[in-house]
Amino acid sequence: MSGHLVKELTDEGFVPFAFGNPRNLAELHPAPFGAALHMIASDDPENLHYHHAINRLNGLAYGGKDMGMPAWVQIDCGILPSAFIGFALPSTRLPDKLKWQMDIHDDVGLVPVAEAISIPTMQPGRYTSFSMCSVIPGKQLGYAAKLLSLKAYGCRRSLGVAQFDNFALRIHTRFGALEITEPHVPYHTCPENTFVYGCDLRGGAVLDMLERGLVVDDDREPTFLLDSRDTDKMMEMAARTRARTHRYWLLPPGAIRTEHGVQNPILEETLQVR
Ligand SMILES: CC(C)(COP(=O)(O)OP(=O)(O)OC[C@H]1O[C@@H](n2cnc3c(N)ncnc32)[C@H](O)[C@@H]1OP(=O)(O)O)[C@@H](O)C(=O)NCCC(=O)NCCS
Repeated sequence: MSGHLVKELTDEGFVPFAFGNPRNLAELHPAPFGAALHMIASDDPENLHYHHAINRLNGLAYGGKDMGMPAWVQIDCGILPSAFIGFALPSTRLPDKLKWQMDIHDDVGLVPVAEAISIPTMQPGRYTSFSMCSVIPGKQLGYAAKLLSLKAYGCRRSLGVAQFDNFALRIHTRFGALEITEPHVPYHTCPENTFVYGCDLRGGAVLDMLERGLVVDDDREPTFLLDSRDTDKMMEMAARTRARTHRYWLLPPGAIRTEHGVQNPILEETLQVR
């Protein structure tokens, strides 16, 4: 990867957008990385098709037309506390198959093809991210949507929830090593291999580095490779994390495809017990 990713995408015709409550839109950086956000107000009935398109996009990326986030989640956890941010294309430029998959039959103007969202937590500057997705592979659109959104919010530290077998980890770890704050989440929809992570964006400086095509260096060596199906090991890591005897980091490049399945490079730190 080289050059300015967001500029490269806008030069190709992808339109950066923000979709949410107008009061939230007014708080965003209007042109993160110099790319003016096309602001779409969620409370304008004219934009109802955009609600549906965001939902379709999410459902399509996460595995099926009807598997999108429920409409109430889109409102309660998305457009009311924050804004969906990503890239759109004019409907006339969508590939035919995608048009059909997104249920787009007329020229409806812009259609979202990648999005990410984060919502503020009670910890200043810390946002929790979810829903990163893209339906046009091979162009880094999902990654760029996450980058653009965190910049637009002014995020300094992020939180996220992921599964150890998801290749999206290769994107999340570009932002830096992930501190695994909950190595096992038994109350999640995927209790086998879900974890919670935190990432320090160094006051936001990491975002500018990444957009310029630079890499966040981390020369620490992993202590072990975690099999993405080894729930027992995740539970052991969780018990040690809770006991504050150990701390775990998921190191870049994240999920590695091996002959034994997907594995993750983990750094285990032993903490001083007082
Ligand atoms: C994850 C996702 C958002 C990536 O979108 P994107 O940035 O547009 O994806 P790209 O096809 O351009 O790939 C970007 C990077 O993702 C990683 N990646 C994506 N799919 C991968 C796969 N099947 N195997 C290995 N790496 C993969 C690679 O690191 C790739 O970078 P590279 O091509 O330089 O190696 C998209 O695949 C998606 O929507 N997935 C389903 C939803 C999901 O799982 N979201 C994450 C929840 S935590």
